[in-house]
Amino acid sequence: MRRITKAVFPVAGFGSRFLPATKASPKEMMPIVDKPLIQYAVEEAVAAGLTDMVFITGRQKRAIEDHFDKAYEIESELAGRGKTELLKLVQDIIPRHVNCIYIRQSEQLGLGHAVLCARPVLEGEPFAVILADDLVDAPTPVMRQMVDVFEKEHASVLGVQEVPRDQTASYGIVIAESFRARLEKVKGIVEKPKPADAPSNLAVIGRYVLTPAIFDHLARVRPGAGGEIQLTDAIGALLAEERVLAYRFEGVRYDCGSKLGYLQATVALGVRHPEVGKAFSAYLKEFGEH
Ligand code: G1P
Repeated sequence: MRRITKAVFPVAGFGSRFLPATKASPKEMMPIVDKPLIQYAVEEAVAAGLTDMVFITGRQKRAIEDHFDKAYEIESELAGRGKTELLKLVQDIIPRHVNCIYIRQSEQLGLGHAVLCARPVLEGEPFAVILADDLVDAPTPVMRQMVDVFEKEHASVLGVQEVPRDQTASYGIVIAESFRARLEKVKGIVEKPKPADAPSNLAVIGRYVLTPAIFDHLARVRPGAGGEIQLTDAIGALLAEERVLAYRFEGVRYDCGSKLGYLQATVALGVRHPEVGKAFSAYLKEFGEH
């Protein structure tokens, strides 16, 4: 099995849950303290040793491309004013050995369709998929953990976590059989089942390592839940052919596609921020006392 070098970031979605903030700017550019969500996602991929970042983008998403590109004006301004620390911050957003590839998804036909758009640059290779909405705070970045599992097991790996029963309709839910510590063999998977129909409460969080066999299934699956081409359905079809594993990752996940999750992430990362963490913690304590 080939090594994984590429990560796919589906970023074409509208972000309707965050309107009006996302009316004219991408939801992936919303910051947690001082870094946009998409930068956390890219840093996680880089920490997993991946070198090619494939963004599946769309209209209104230019800011993402600009964020990972050279910013001549701001760089020369900062250099001219002797602001070397800020200059370094702007220049080091992405390491020099990392490439960015942008593919437009002109119609939003679902997550499965977004991943299928990456096929021309991924043919024959296993790859990672990272949904920037799901921010995972972990001592070992979660994609690093998953690539390690892939390298041992040579099978597709889904990042999973138990969710409260009443939330199954927001996730891909797996039917799995315990295999070894933190690892399960996936027996079935269903997209967004109602709590009454859910086969378990083990939910797929936005992290996947997939073998290239997924593409034939993605090309074949019919629209599923919500009328969309679902990655979940292609994974379900892949099960007939290959072993798929579910990995209970270590780390705390924040659903930054929801307002509450976004605020929770801001607090969790805010109190640890090197510049404002102390003052912010003190403020929260004082605020809680009122
Ligand atoms: C997508 C997937 C779903 C997964 C979820 C994780 O849903 O379709 O299977 O559990 O991401 O965040 P979305 O949140 O895009 O509706």
